[in-house]
Amino acid sequence: MSGLIERYRDRLPFAADDPVVTLGEGGTPLVHAPHLSARVDAEVWLKLDGTNPTGSFKDRGMTCAVSAAVREGAKAVICASTGNTAASAAAYAARAGLTCAVIVPEGKIAAGKLAQALMHGARVIALRGNFDQALTLVRALTDRHPIALVNSVNHFRLEGQKTAAFEIIEQLDELDALSIPVGNAGNITAYHRGFGELGIAPRLFGFQAEGAAPLVIGKKVDQPETIASAIRIGNPARWEEAMEAMTASRGMVRAVSDSEILAAYRLLAAREGVFCEPASAASVAGLLRYGAGGARRVACVLTGHGLKDPDTALNQAGGVIPCEPNLGAVEEAVLG
Ligand code: F0G
Repeated sequence: MSGLIERYRDRLPFAADDPVVTLGEGGTPLVHAPHLSARVDAEVWLKLDGTNPTGSFKDRGMTCAVSAAVREGAKAVICASTGNTAASAAAYAARAGLTCAVIVPEGKIAAGKLAQALMHGARVIALRGNFDQALTLVRALTDRHPIALVNSVNHFRLEGQKTAAFEIIEQLDELDALSIPVGNAGNITAYHRGFGELGIAPRLFGFQAEGAAPLVIGKKVDQPETIASAIRIGNPARWEEAMEAMTASRGMVRAVSDSEILAAYRLLAAREGVFCEPASAASVAGLLRYGAGGARRVACVLTGHGLKDPDTALNQAGGVIPCEPNLGAVEEAVLG
């Protein structure tokens, strides 16, 4: 399967003979959600971007950021991350033969993401601080050293991520609203750009976790807190652009509580058969709490795979049933 750059080269800043670092990202499923549709009285679709090669939407941006870094002759890449960017950067850097360093908040990233970054051979630095501090530090570091910064402040990241908007419209033709979790605010900005290039402007509904909702309260959050560790961010890098995207599309930015996020996370798994990570479920939690705002057709972006965060899943799910190895015991265990 070809990757994004090959598929959308005419709309991306890459020439025919540029180097391409790809893992076959993009082309992710967009599935109808019957249960949610009935609950919110709209036609709800789920964009399963957790099915990308490293399990999150970051791969869309990373194929572009790492390809551009190779084109520019970079030998090393770096990012600050709540986990998914780190996993993606590590994988694409490994593929390209580049050195990779990732700076993550110590003890605050999901187990699967840490395992990925380490397995792909990145230098993983556990910062005794939060994501916002990590991003400030990598920006300062890349000012002093010739290392390519692959956070979403990198122009190529958003270029790659805008392709998700293309894919949704290729399948649905029309869309009234897009519901999306917001952390560092790169992805909502990318969708806005993608829709804009198609000449359309579906309403953008951005959702933040209550304890990490700077865009909702209108000021930085010094100590962001949420179970949705991927969006535990208090000072989004794309703040103004994200607000502009929501205003221009007549959208909104609202907060959802951790318990609403977890309820949506369980509901998606149990009723729609879709296992996403907690941060992704914020898009559905927002829709359930605030409604579809009159939109007839809505797409929720499920940004990361549920397997990224096995600890939260095991804490939220029911327990296993122990069983002796004989038919009577198995019968009782199975039939209850
Ligand atoms: N969902 C997931 C699963 C994420 O990992 C992120 C961001 C977001 C949503 C929010 O996207 O930042 O573009 O608004 N994760 C970044 C990371 C910060 O380091 O992996 P955003």
